[in-house]
Amino acid sequence: METIAYICSYSDNDLQYKNDISSQEAKISNFCKLHDLNVDEIFVETSIREDFKPVLLEILSKYCMSINKIIVTDYDVISPNVDFTDWIKDELKRMKVELICLNEGSSNGDVSSSSQTISNLKENIKNIPSLPEIITKSIELMQDKNTSAATLSKIISNDVGLTARVLKLVNSAYYGFPKQISTIQQAITILGFTTIKGIILSASIYKMFSSEGAGSEFNYKRFWKHSLLVAFASKLIGKYSKDLVSSDIFSAAFLHDIGKIILAQYDRDNYTNVCMQDELNEFDYLKEEEKYCGINHCELGNIVAYSWNLPEVFCDVITYHHYPDKSVNFKNECLAVYLANYITSNIMSNNSLTIDKIMLDILEKLNISVDNISVILDKLDEILASFNNIDEFFS
Ligand SMILES: [Fe+2]
Ligand SMILES: [Fe+2]
Repeated sequence: METIAYICSYSDNDLQYKNDISSQEAKISNFCKLHDLNVDEIFVETSIREDFKPVLLEILSKYCMSINKIIVTDYDVISPNVDFTDWIKDELKRMKVELICLNEGSSNGDVSSSSQTISNLKENIKNIPSLPEIITKSIELMQDKNTSAATLSKIISNDVGLTARVLKLVNSAYYGFPKQISTIQQAITILGFTTIKGIILSASIYKMFSSEGAGSEFNYKRFWKHSLLVAFASKLIGKYSKDLVSSDIFSAAFLHDIGKIILAQYDRDNYTNVCMQDELNEFDYLKEEEKYCGINHCELGNIVAYSWNLPEVFCDVITYHHYPDKSVNFKNECLAVYLANYITSNIMSNNSLTIDKIMLDILEKLNISVDNISVILDKLDEILASFNNIDEFFS
């Protein structure tokens, strides 16, 4: 046996019990299809008690030496008691068994760490276009410290559409330069490589995914409006936070939900089931994506971001914007986008913002005050009122 799954329900209602078991089986089976994994055996817990797990303990004592992966849909399945779950995680780690939790990537929280998993997924998600060559070439040049603004501008200027999009963006009210920037070389000199890199990436990826697929239930306009507002909000949070933030937070935040639009275009029928459900909170939304598509937008975004070779801050924001604490190198950026996402979703749904304990905790981590949030909200309202059409911004 190499890979097993562990399933558990705590319900004493027969119907609910059966539903729990079959929904976990379905999730695991979808996940395995997508990851090209073969499950040798599915173990179903015999006890419905939260504190008594005979099957799980039997797995630990009897099978651990002969397996290398164990799949669960959720850590709650192991136990709602975090201490017990942590103990199981430690035991599995000690025995060199990888714990795969479908709701949160692998047990160490690093979805990107398993290159094998990523390459299997890449195999299965065909037809996602690569980035245009001019973009990959430009990014490669920008990583090289010896590249001059003149060399880079020559490459970008070869693409008339890209040049127009970059100039439009750098001359937008957002950057607020008093004088018109009329050449790419000027833009690079004024804004620097990091910002230009973010701009060309976001402008190109927007172009790749801006048009609506026929018959899609996915609301493209709302999606890109949300993305742009999250980008503005993240940038503002970065401005007020005393601990933040990399200079391409705007572009990284703009692409934070890119996995959603890829699901909408490349798994349209399944994703329609997710889109048709109203008012899901963010975690239920992730669960529904997993249920229907076998993967959530963060995991898929992670795979695509790595395959596109995006800068690391982009990969982390795309992967961890719902679980910011899991980011190792860009925790503050992920926290900023998490907060921006929360603020923006409230604004777009016309809900008033509740600063609860979780939010206060995040504000403290970002070293930002509640007063700052009021200022950010006012600015976002102004921004929202100033653009009616997302196409005006990027095309
Ligand atoms: Fe998201
Ligand atoms: Fe979002």
